[in-house]
Amino acid sequence: MIVFMTALLVVLYQLTCHRNQRVKDGQIQICNLCRDNPKTQLWLSFLILSFLTTCTSAESEIEDLLTCLEELNSTLQKSDAMLYTAPLSDVEKCKDKVLRCYMVELIMVILEEQINDSKTDCLYHFNDDLKPEVGCPQCEMYSLQNISTFLRMLTNTLQRINSM
Ligand SMILES: *[C@@H]1O[C@H](CO)[C@@H](O)[C@H](O)[C@H]1NC(C)=O
Ligand SMILES: *[C@@H]1O[C@H](CO)[C@@H](O)[C@H](O)[C@H]1NC(C)=O
Ligand SMILES: *[C@@H]1O[C@H](CO)[C@@H](O)[C@H](O)[C@H]1NC(C)=O
Repeated sequence: MIVFMTALLVVLYQLTCHRNQRVKDGQIQICNLCRDNPKTQLWLSFLILSFLTTCTSAESEIEDLLTCLEELNSTLQKSDAMLYTAPLSDVEKCKDKVLRCYMVELIMVILEEQINDSKTDCLYHFNDDLKPEVGCPQCEMYSLQNISTFLRMLTNTLQRINSM
């Protein structure tokens, strides 16, 4: 995928350069430089890619989790555990702490229900990347809810974070 995108960017860059060459004198030198030097092309592609990745990664992680939860939904719904459920109001100041509370509860359900599905990997990865804020309420302070309310609140929370 990365290789494909790099190739695509190089092609796009060359096409753009080619067209500019006829129009703007100023850009000819940059175009010649990068066309004659594959390393420069690679560096440019790499920089653009890094930039794109940095800009979109935070959002797509949430999207990935939402997809992952949807796939696990029917399996998770079988649990009859009561789970600590954070309200939406805590998301703004304590985003990662709230998400950590949700992940800890979900992982507990996965262990309790002995869900061996590799689809649960995404929850562990997501959990590992969290950096819970200090000074936030402890998970045990939140009200206990059944799994369907818990999953609905988690989905709402993720959608709220996505729109923040
Ligand atoms: C999850 O499953 C429950 C019950 O089976 C259903 O009511 C709910 O709409 C499902 N949620 C999603 C996001 O698919
Ligand atoms: C998961 O694996 C355990 C043993 O490794 C097994 O007892 C259990 O039935 C499996 N659960 C599911 C949902 O397949
Ligand atoms: C889960 O809890 C909500 C409200 O707390 C309730 O309305 C709903 O009936 C409960 N669902 C199940 C399956 O117990």
